[in-house]
Amino acid sequence: MTDTTTSPVDIPSFFDPAVQDDPFEAYELMREHCPVHRLPENGLYMVTRYDDVKSVLSDRERFSSNPVGAGFRPSEASRAAAATMAEKGWKRAQTLQRTDPPVHTHYRRLLGRVFTIKRVNELVPRIEQLCHELIDGFVERGKCEFVRDFALPLPGIVICEQLGLDAADYPRFKRWADAMLASAQRVLTVEEAIEQAEIELEAQHHLAREFERRREAPTDDLISALVHAHGTDEEPLTMEELQDLMHQLITGGFETTTAALGTGLWLLLRHPDQMAKLRANPDLMNNFIDESLRIDSPVAGLWRRATCPVEVAGVEIPTDAAVMVRYAAANRDHAKFDDPNTFDIERDNASEHIAFGWGNHLCVGAWLARAELRCAFTAILARLDDLALTQPLDEIAHEFSFMLRPLKELPISFTAASTTSTTDEVPQ
Ligand code: HEM
Repeated sequence: MTDTTTSPVDIPSFFDPAVQDDPFEAYELMREHCPVHRLPENGLYMVTRYDDVKSVLSDRERFSSNPVGAGFRPSEASRAAAATMAEKGWKRAQTLQRTDPPVHTHYRRLLGRVFTIKRVNELVPRIEQLCHELIDGFVERGKCEFVRDFALPLPGIVICEQLGLDAADYPRFKRWADAMLASAQRVLTVEEAIEQAEIELEAQHHLAREFERRREAPTDDLISALVHAHGTDEEPLTMEELQDLMHQLITGGFETTTAALGTGLWLLLRHPDQMAKLRANPDLMNNFIDESLRIDSPVAGLWRRATCPVEVAGVEIPTDAAVMVRYAAANRDHAKFDDPNTFDIERDNASEHIAFGWGNHLCVGAWLARAELRCAFTAILARLDDLALTQPLDEIAHEFSFMLRPLKELPISFTAASTTSTTDEVPQ
């Protein structure tokens, strides 16, 4: 059995923003020398090899998604935020992503009735239209800040509309989503945590009114589908459960897709040969999307809790330890992908990445995210020629985050393509 604290090499600290920004060398060292690395700063066990990540995700008995009892104690700030939420709104129930079978199976079945491929396919014309409207907003300027002008609003407006808000409500929705994500993105003071909780409460009260409205008069959006997702022999979801599920859909579906859009374009800008290949052969679109999710996974890692002492790659992980499955490291494992650090949109096993997770918690929104990415890059390549960065990105290009990889900004220039058809077919 290996003691990871005596790793044969020094592993750079994941608390260093420069390492979070460009962690790939650290992943390489970890996969090779200490594939389960105990972070000295907080005792978290980070699992980095492809096969190990999959086996942790498949072992629901010994690796629980329910964080209660995990090695981390909630901070004073998160306790203060939870108390504010409980006092003025709805305490969040433990649903879906933070549950194990059979509880998870129950929620997943309900969500499965809501997030159907048919429902997403019906959304595609609206997503295409939104992509073109966003491009219309900046195409004449010859330049834009892609994260602010496209990558944030596209998924934001898509979810917003599904929640019964219209595109004009997007700034309000973004404020809510930012508040919900704040504690996962950075360390908050008690005052900041309470301030963010107050904003989240505004979202909760809005959603509560929308739930009630649809209980009485069903509509054809996602909220209504959730409210009525139970079968005739099942109890309807409670307000606490509905609030928690919406929280997961908003936090799970917004910045993840923003990060994927920004990273996808940044990869094309840094690899003009691959961009030319994609322009010449749009049938490569799906493989390009998989390859960019693989090489720079938008959700770098998520948590599990060890329910008993368990050995992974020769390392003993104790009961209740917090374990991070690092998708981003697994997706560059040489044992799985040849020449894994090369961005190759024709890679034949690109789709075997695990950027959407693996096993029973596999991303519910993967089909929607893929549809947004396909529509977005089809529209971008059809309407914007001569794409280039207008200036080098910050030395630290990403926002600091332990889980996600949001780019701070992506300032680009382009020329408007002569064919500005908004009806280019999106490959399915
Ligand atoms: C490129 C974009 C996205 C990426 C990379 C991504 C990634 C992931 C990953 C890695 C998981 C696994 C969680 C786990 O094992 O604990 C997950 C689950 C989930 N995702 Fe996504 N996601 C994306 C987009 C979306 C969208 C658009 C939605 C919804 C609107 C969404 C909603 C969810 C939900 C609700 C879960 C929890 C599923 C469960 O626990 O059964 N995601 N996602």
